[in-house]
Amino acid sequence: MKHFLSIKELTQQQLLDLLALARKIKAKPQEYSQALKGKSVVMLFEKPSLRTRVSFDIGINKLGGHCLYLDQQNGALGKRESVQDFATNLSCWADAIVARTFSHGTIEQLAKYGSVPVINALSDLYHPCQALADFLSLAEQLDDLSKLKLVYIGDGNNVSQSLMYGAALLGARMTVICPAGHFPDGHEVTEAQRIAKQHGGEIVLTTDVNAVQSHDAIYTDTWISMGDNTALTDIRAKFAPYQVNGALMAQAGAKYFMHCLPAHRGVEVTDEVMDGEGSLILDQAENRMHAQNAVLVTLLG
Ligand code: CP
Ligand code: NVA
Repeated sequence: MKHFLSIKELTQQQLLDLLALARKIKAKPQEYSQALKGKSVVMLFEKPSLRTRVSFDIGINKLGGHCLYLDQQNGALGKRESVQDFATNLSCWADAIVARTFSHGTIEQLAKYGSVPVINALSDLYHPCQALADFLSLAEQLDDLSKLKLVYIGDGNNVSQSLMYGAALLGARMTVICPAGHFPDGHEVTEAQRIAKQHGGEIVLTTDVNAVQSHDAIYTDTWISMGDNTALTDIRAKFAPYQVNGALMAQAGAKYFMHCLPAHRGVEVTDEVMDGEGSLILDQAENRMHAQNAVLVTLLG
């Protein structure tokens, strides 16, 4: 592994190894307290963040490394100087680049022109650090992830696309339920279904909310992702049947609820579900750090 740009670039073994390492780091953090000693990581964010920024910063600190956050005070990436020059310059000093960008192409350019590992901290196409933390959270609840039945309901976005690749590699079953016109990207779906087939899993897409039945976990995310200018008032009625509420959880028979956060309470999910017994939202948030630290140790340790 040279970079961590998307889950789809991993083999099944690499994904399992990352999950196993994350669990080891979480269980015995003191054994990894010097893993990044002398290493510096630059974080480059074009979009806002709470969880990703804080979990990388504190996580790198816990591994004995140093991290530096760059926002867009120097102007949008590629405006003041090219992404190529940005990448080659940062590579002179930093040992890795963590980037959150509007376009996935920008992250690919950083990886292409820089000489240090690049980690995708969210792009328009993927959120691989999130998916890794999500499968870590599920692995803590379920013995065998190949038997997992996961449903993603709502907008087919970056988070759903990374989850599809993770489920596919694990040989799990994933149902993606979206309103018509809001499915994940067709190319990503075809790729994820191809990988799922190789590993004995299945990715099913439907507009039918009744397909929630018989799953272990229900996952949702915002109906409007960062960089999408859609107004909530324009889509709210169309998305309303896809809200995760008590009735939907009961219909699904699902034990667990998941959300990458930030959530819009009362929009894609109700308070009773967010704060309910089976909610894994804080496990997911905590596990961001352990999952990312496994990525950092693998790439730099
Ligand atoms: N889940 C997640 O990536 O949260 P932030 O946008 O706050 O980093
Ligand atoms: N799909 C959301 C995830 C935020 C963590 C977005 O891209 O805005």
